[in-house]
Parts: sequence; C-alpha cells; structure tokens
Amino acid sequence: MASTAGDVLRNNLSILSPDQVELANMLIEMEQSHLFEHWPEPGIDDDEKRAFFDQIQKLNSSYPGGLAAYIKTARELLADSKSGKNPFEGFTPSVPSGEVLTFADDNFLQYEAAGVREARKAAFVLVAGGLGERLGYNGIKVALPSESITRTCFLQHYIESILALQDASCRLVEGECHAEIPLVIMTSDDTHSRTVDLLESNSYFGMKPTQVKLLKQEKVACLIDNDAHLALEPNNKYRIQTKPHGHGDVHSLLYSSGVLKNWHEAGLRWVLFFQDTNGLLFKAIPASLGVSTTKQYHVNSLAVPRKAKEAIGGITRLTHKDGRSMVINVEYNQLDPLLRATGYPDGDVNSESGYSPFPGNINQLILEIGPYMEELTRTGGAIKEFVNPKYKDSTKTAFKSSTRLECMMQDYPKTLPPSARVGFTVMDAWLAYAPVKNNPEDAAKVPKGNPYHSATSGEMAIYRANSLILRKVHSPVLEFIV
Ligand code: UTP
Repeated sequence: MASTAGDVLRNNLSILSPDQVELANMLIEMEQSHLFEHWPEPGIDDDEKRAFFDQIQKLNSSYPGGLAAYIKTARELLADSKSGKNPFEGFTPSVPSGEVLTFADDNFLQYEAAGVREARKAAFVLVAGGLGERLGYNGIKVALPSESITRTCFLQHYIESILALQDASCRLVEGECHAEIPLVIMTSDDTHSRTVDLLESNSYFGMKPTQVKLLKQEKVACLIDNDAHLALEPNNKYRIQTKPHGHGDVHSLLYSSGVLKNWHEAGLRWVLFFQDTNGLLFKAIPASLGVSTTKQYHVNSLAVPRKAKEAIGGITRLTHKDGRSMVINVEYNQLDPLLRATGYPDGDVNSESGYSPFPGNINQLILEIGPYMEELTRTGGAIKEFVNPKYKDSTKTAFKSSTRLECMMQDYPKTLPPSARVGFTVMDAWLAYAPVKNNPEDAAKVPKGNPYHSATSGEMAIYRANSLILRKVHSPVLEFIV
C-alpha cells in the first residue's frame, strides 16, 4: 500500500524537536500534508527537513495569530475573490471632514508653528522595505540622490530634516530640552543590510545611532490554490516560497517589537509614517502635525488636491447601512464605480474648485500614540488584508502563479471604532508630494496631466518648491537682496 503524507511525517518524527512536531501537527490540521509527500525516510536530507521547520517556525511567529490564522484568512479572502464579492457592499461614500491648507497664509503659519512646537513629542517611521520594481534601480531607494546638485540622498535628507525639526522644537521650550526624536526604519530582506551599510558608513548622517532603530519585516507564505495550500519553492522542495506582505506590516512590527510601548511610556504623542522617496514631504510635515494636535486627530492622512479620476486613491467616508462608518483610502478605480452605484450618476467628478471633493491620499500618516496603542493592543497590529490572484481563466479555479496575502499601511483605520477622530490635511502637491517611483521609460508613458513620479520629476519638484517658497514667504532679507 502506498504510504500517505501522514505516514511519511510519522516516520520522520524522531528527527524533529517537540516544537517542530507541534508545528507539523498544525500543518496537518490545516490540510497542508502535501508539503511532506516527497519526504524520504529518516537519515536522508535530515538537515534540510529541520531547516524546513526553522522556516515554518519563523513564518508562524512573525504573523499575528500564526500560520494557522494566515491560512484561514487566506481561504476566506480567496473565496471572496473567486465569488467577486464587492468589498464595499452596503457602504455609501461621502466627503469626510479635514483641513485644506494654503502655503504661507496665516492659517498655515499657525498650524506650522503648532507643529514645530509639538515635534519634540513625535517619532518618525520610514517604511523602506519595498523592492522598487517600477523604478528598476538595483540599489536601495533611500540611497538615491534626491537631487543632483548636492547629491544628498533621501535618507540623509530625511535624517537632517528630523534633526532640524528637533532643534527648532527644542528652541521653543523654556528651560532645557533633551528631546531626541526617534526614527524607525522598516526594512525587508531586500533592503536591510544595504540600509545598515548606508547608515554606518555615513555615521548615521549626524543622528545618534541610539536614535535609529531598524525593524525588518518578514515575507509571507505563497499560496498555490483557492484552498490556500502553501507553495514550495520551485528549486527547493524543503522551503516554502515567500513574497512581500506589503507596508501594512509596519503596525504589527511596532507593536510586537515593544517600540510603540516604549514611546508611549516615554511620553511621546505622535507617530509620523512616511515613504522612501518623497523629497518634498518635510516641507509639509510641521503644518500637518499642527493640524493633528490642534484638531486632536487620532489619524491624520496627508493628501493633495486630486483631479477627478486621477490615478491616486481618494480619502473617503464610507457609511454602512448598519450605521458603521470609517474614513479610508478608496483606490481610484473603485471610487468612480462606487459613487455611480450609490446615487451619484456622474461618478467621480470635479467640484467647482476644479478638483474632486475626495482628496488624493499620499500615504503619509500621523497617528496619535495613545489611541494607536489602544487599538494595536486590541488587534495585535493585524491590518485588514487583501489577495490579488492572477487566475488562469474565467473559472477562477487555478492561478497563473502563486499568490499571497498583502496589507497596506493606510488600511489601519478600517478596524477603528466610530468614535475615532480620523481626518486629513490637504496641501498643494508642489509643496508636499513628488515621489520617485517610475523608471524614465514608463514615466514617459504616463497619461498627459498625470504626474510622472520619476527621478527627474522628483528632482525638478524640489527646485520648484524651493523657488516658490522663497517667492511666497515674505522675508525682509529677501526684499533687501532683491
Ligand atoms: P511602493 O508603492 O513604492 O512599492 O511602496 P515598492 O514595493 O517600493 O515599489 P514597486 O511597487 O516594486 O515599484 C511605498 C512605500 O512602502 C514601502 C516602500 O519602500 C515605499 O517606501 N514598502 C513597500 C515597504 O516598506 N514594504 C513593502 O512590502 C512594500
């Protein structure tokens, strides 16, 4: 009689530790016995078999709820994807409330001053684990020069901006100020060692090494079918194939590492999340933080004016038939059909301002630490995930290649209670947003009127913003020079 995967595993139990046997049982319970079918008798490839379980242990411990929870969620999401379930079923969109700022007017300056004062109670989190496939650069993105005159790389620019903010904030305090604004950088296997090298070979660009902490995100298991069977690597039958889980991991890492708790206990009040290649962002940070503190926002999403149908997510209030409501990023390709299906026959159109009433999300978030800590204690940092399998055909029964669950940093508000204060701050894109994401060839194909998001457009945006700021800021020194 042919031996089953269960027999094969039973034969091999003697080479495994008690913890590994427990993991093996979990995998069998979760109907993953195909992973062992090819295993030879004990004595053959034993080190590989143990290494397999080392990887299982890592996948299990780095996911909130463990691998069993991952497989269970995957089955639910794959079933929803197969049946074409509308994620917004029962929800009606409306425009949330937020603050629209105009650079250098009195309102802006007041918020900016409030933000600088508050900055010494802030911590920064840079998500820098992405591969940057669209950019096609083979180094890490934070090592790229943000502009070619000084060749200051993004990481240097970010660190120097945080240090400048730290100084400016301390100068506003009476008496001594020892604030050291912490910086966490989330890396991945693709970026970790090169980020460490960049920091160490440049003396942390002037920041104290103790101020900087790197948290590495782990990849998640790939899935081969709608039953969420785990995929083995094509070239190694003793390894699970893995892929990145997305920048949403940052929340569970801040929680599980204890970093968030330390910040909370140290009396810090804000966490500011930002991305790897936006050379303008720090021009917008102080005023946005001022909005958070003045309006007491638990969540403040930075946004830019958005032309209707522009390829950027819109910040939207979604209210469910049952009364639930949330303020959340809705991807541009979902916003127009959602509006049309819920009583707005024209869909996503510009208002009299010339822009869509739904501001464009630029994925830089400011969270208030107290409520953030409370929420993560409840959820363990798990963020609502999604799955995006590429099916072989319309029966949706087989995939072209393995898939995995993903999660996005900006989906954090999806689990918040209705009492949460979630708002946004809109600033002009020339001041706040010029990421470097696309290679020159693809940037040249961007439809007319949409931003290129290339290295060239990112660099030009920095020069342009500097010129516009000098022109707009009323400065006696400038008048004297002119
Ligand atoms: P992007 O949307 O730019 O994605 O990520 P990407 O993976 O870096 O680039 P492409 O899509 O392959 O071209 C937005 C931010 O989130 C970080 C990126 O480093 C960037 O700062 N990120 C993305 C992570 O930290 N982890 C991830 O798994 C994905």
